[in-house]
Amino acid sequence: SSKQAATAQNVSPLLRSRRSFASARPQAGRPRPDPRPSPQGYYTRRGGVGESGDFVTSPEISPVFGELIGIWYVSEWIATGKPKAFQLVELGPGRGTLTHDILRVFNQLASLLSKCDVSIHLVEVSPKLSEIQALMLTGEKLQSNPEDKSAYMKGITKTGIPIFWYRDIQDVPQGYSFYLAHEFFDALPIHKFQRTEKGWREVLVDIDPEVPNRLRFVLAPSSTPATENFIQPEETRDHVEVCPEAGVLIQRLATRLEKDGGAALIADYGHDGTKTDTFRGFRNHKLHDVLKAPGTADLTADVDFSYLRKMTQGRTATLGPIKQREFLKNMGIDLRLQVLLQNSQDTTTQEQLLHSYDMLMNPKKMGDCFNFFALLPHHRLTHPDKKHNPQSRAPLVPVAGFGELLLK
Ligand SMILES: C[S@@+](CC[C@H](N)C(=O)[O-])C[C@H]1O[C@@H](n2cnc3c(N)ncnc32)[C@H](O)[C@@H]1O
Repeated sequence: SSKQAATAQNVSPLLRSRRSFASARPQAGRPRPDPRPSPQGYYTRRGGVGESGDFVTSPEISPVFGELIGIWYVSEWIATGKPKAFQLVELGPGRGTLTHDILRVFNQLASLLSKCDVSIHLVEVSPKLSEIQALMLTGEKLQSNPEDKSAYMKGITKTGIPIFWYRDIQDVPQGYSFYLAHEFFDALPIHKFQRTEKGWREVLVDIDPEVPNRLRFVLAPSSTPATENFIQPEETRDHVEVCPEAGVLIQRLATRLEKDGGAALIADYGHDGTKTDTFRGFRNHKLHDVLKAPGTADLTADVDFSYLRKMTQGRTATLGPIKQREFLKNMGIDLRLQVLLQNSQDTTTQEQLLHSYDMLMNPKKMGDCFNFFALLPHHRLTHPDKKHNPQSRAPLVPVAGFGELLLK
């Protein structure tokens, strides 16, 4: 039935534990979200990232996660001939932890990046979270100016880099850019469809006529415009979730990368066009009925990477999705852990390091359910010499993280 298909009941136990991971990295001194409610959606009124909120994400678990992602961007910058300027554009930065850790890498590699004009651009809809991000990244409470057409907030990071906030990717200036979306696409709204004897039907939300104030899932009595537009003729599944907003965003990223160069790294819960009913809600680190108290829980659906790939419309090359544990291993997390363990004096820090490594890498925790997916301009994966000299044997610079790490 539609109800059965559209509830969170058949989500695997692995995914149920998704945001209930306890003991994240210590948050001492980090600003907490403002609990005052405002009228709108979940992110604009709650935005509960971190241990005290509704979910804990990988960057919140260990700074090593952001470090390795920072290294991925520096590696792509070097592989593309060290352009004179780049923008780091993060979609949905949460508390700003990931950009904070990436900025630490950029700062540590200051001598390498000294001649490069770096700027940070955050796309964030939540006023509350943008305040938290500003405090985390600039150390200041910044004045927001909603009237400003270019960016609604501006500042300078603690490491001296210009930083800007926008509500929409289209407001971010064009130019060679590194895009980052970690646990962003899964937060965007989806359409749900169920195959029936009469053909595909959209799953809609209705008010239960028998119980006051209760919402329920129903099947549309006939085909809807979304059903006509979003179901692929070759679809074999019986239940499908489609996120058109993700499709539009990917098209925008692909168009920008094709024109200006750079790379996009997307990390999220997801599948390659195989899963069916993944829509679920989380509140206070527990699974929460998606229809109960709308706007108070974090609603999420797995990202369909096959759909994202399709929506690039061949404008860029794509890599992945590959599992988080593979990506981090390829990025050298084991080596980094060894160095950190050797440099730490006390057993508490060592235990903390091992614990956070296990959270990120264990296939039963975050290692297998998160995926990494990249968009790159086609020329990045085409041999530069081969065009002019087909016999050339010069190796193509590999894209870090998506192939095995070879230590010389
Ligand atoms: C699950 S949080 C992820 C936070 C962060 N990337 C991390 O991994 O810790 C989702 C983020 O996306 C933002 N967000 C949600 N919908 C958005 C939209 N349509 N446009 C821009 N940001 C959005 C939220 O406010 C929040 O910062």
